Amino acid sequence: MAPTRPSIVGLSTGPEPPYPLRMEGKVIKGFGRGAKELGFPTANLPVDGNLTPWIVNIKSGVYLGWVSLCPVPSSHANQPTTLSETGATTMTSDATQASSRKFSIYPMVMSIGYNKFYKNKERSAEVHVLHEFVTTFYGAEMRLLITGFIREEKDYPTREALIEDIAIDCEVVRNSLDREAWALRETGKGTLDGSWLTRETPE
Ligand SMILES: Cc1cc2nc3c(=O)[nH]c(=O)nc-3n(C[C@H](O)[C@H](O)[C@H](O)COP(=O)(O)O)c2cc1C
Repeated sequence: MAPTRPSIVGLSTGPEPPYPLRMEGKVIKGFGRGAKELGFPTANLPVDGNLTPWIVNIKSGVYLGWVSLCPVPSSHANQPTTLSETGATTMTSDATQASSRKFSIYPMVMSIGYNKFYKNKERSAEVHVLHEFVTTFYGAEMRLLITGFIREEKDYPTREALIEDIAIDCEVVRNSLDREAWALRETGKGTLDGSWLTRETPE
């Protein structure tokens, strides 16, 4: 039997340095196996040390945090109910500006690495958003606030074992972000500053 893993990560007092880390970019197409083979669709972001200097030295593995998307993608269910249930929210960048854009914020889990199970040659950054969407959102502007590390990247004897571990990762994210110091001020449920996620122009 696989050893049990902690169901929560990080201190209850909130993320510790170097977190939160920021990353942004336009969602690009991956190999598409995340949705088809694993049942966990992922949005890929370019791994580029010029755009995201910290990514060069950070260890491969699974990370958690918050994601904002602009434009807001279509969801399955009635948006306001589903969004508040998942701790997600839709926000306008700056309500005082006529040109303001709408962003939606969701919890996310992210894999950075070579996907040992698939033996990729290039390092990738893949984000699974903890929300159900009816469409893909290639080309959307994505910003990430990465609040902590969950575990190292692993190889697996079977696809089912990888799927099982990703499902546990999602549970760890829900439990960990549900604490006040890890939830965003912007969602009305926490104290963590997530203003960068919905800023009109990220600095
Ligand atoms: C939360 C999460 C954890 C993951 N952990 C691993 C891992 O430990 N080892 C691994 O080989 N791949 C891992 N993956 C990556 C999957 O293999 C990846 O999503 C899959 O290769 C699909 O990529 P594609 O959509 O670009 O085809 C993880 C993915 C997610 C979303």
